[in-house]
Amino acid sequence: MDYRPKPLFKERIEKLLTDRNDIKKFWIFSKKPLLRTIRCNTLKISPQELKKRLEKKWKIKQPFPEYPEIMQVASNLLPGELGKSREHILGYYYIQETASMMPILALKPSSQDILVDLCAAPGSKTTHACAVMENKGTIIANDVNLGRISILSSNLEKQGCSNVIITRHDGIVLCNKLKKLKFQASKILADVPCSGEGNIRSNLATLKMWNIKVINKLSRIQKKLASSALEILRPGGEMLYSTCTHAPEENELIIQHLLNNFNIKIEPITLPLKTRPGITEWEGQILSKELNRACRIYPQDNDTEGFFLCKIKKLE
Ligand SMILES: C[S@@+](CC[C@H](N)C(=O)[O-])C[C@H]1O[C@@H](n2cnc3c(N)ncnc32)[C@H](O)[C@@H]1O
Repeated sequence: MDYRPKPLFKERIEKLLTDRNDIKKFWIFSKKPLLRTIRCNTLKISPQELKKRLEKKWKIKQPFPEYPEIMQVASNLLPGELGKSREHILGYYYIQETASMMPILALKPSSQDILVDLCAAPGSKTTHACAVMENKGTIIANDVNLGRISILSSNLEKQGCSNVIITRHDGIVLCNKLKKLKFQASKILADVPCSGEGNIRSNLATLKMWNIKVINKLSRIQKKLASSALEILRPGGEMLYSTCTHAPEENELIIQHLLNNFNIKIEPITLPLKTRPGITEWEGQILSKELNRACRIYPQDNDTEGFFLCKIKKLE
């Protein structure tokens, strides 16, 4: 495996981070093995009870007192050990990287919501939303990929999720159909397909596959997915846009496109992790100051994967 990033990728990260020490840390953390993290499935067991059970075999940490369901397994594990435990088989926890838990903490869906999860498979965030919504309200979990939908479906079953309707559509087509039916969602999660620059730690192949043409192609798809989603969001409703990449073309430039075309505002997000504000300038393009409210998560800041989140409110 070639661990070296392509020169253009390196150059772009240097433009985003600017500080030499920070850039050095970015590459060190991007190649470090990930911490093993799980999310307690509160539909089936309390964090306290799960911790008691897991502590019989592993060292368990709860890094965020206000979110006891987020746990780190701080023991040396055998390959596949987390997935083979009795508690995992019973659906008492979901194996999920910490940064990937942030979108639902930011969106805060409630038992009153109709939530559309536009790109849902394999269901990390759908199952998280279900737990937060206490299996009430309604979730439409959509994905275009049938193979991934079957994993989504078995994850939902294992986690005991019973407020979810699964659909298989291109997200743009689904939103157009729902719009014709005058359907309105109160919350939307647009966790869109992306170039995965934040995922190097779990997938080193990202370095090899990195390509600016792919970023530009994804950017066009993301713009369409996010715009179609806003069409079915009710006024006053909220959409959380997220990616696991650092490329501004897939993040702030998508949000700028939405700001240019819809009556929306960007909402502040409070998370238990260190985040950095979204950027307001990229390659000569000046962007809205509101983008400061978007959140960038870099691997070196919290020893996690990289992520981007932006919470958008549709105005009346
Ligand atoms: C980042 S992953 C989603 C991860 C998921 N939200 C989770 O937390 O487990 C992006 C997903 O988008 C799906 N996808 C790609 N293009 C799509 C489209 N046009 N419409 C709907 N889903 C799409 C992919 O199949 C993939 O499952």
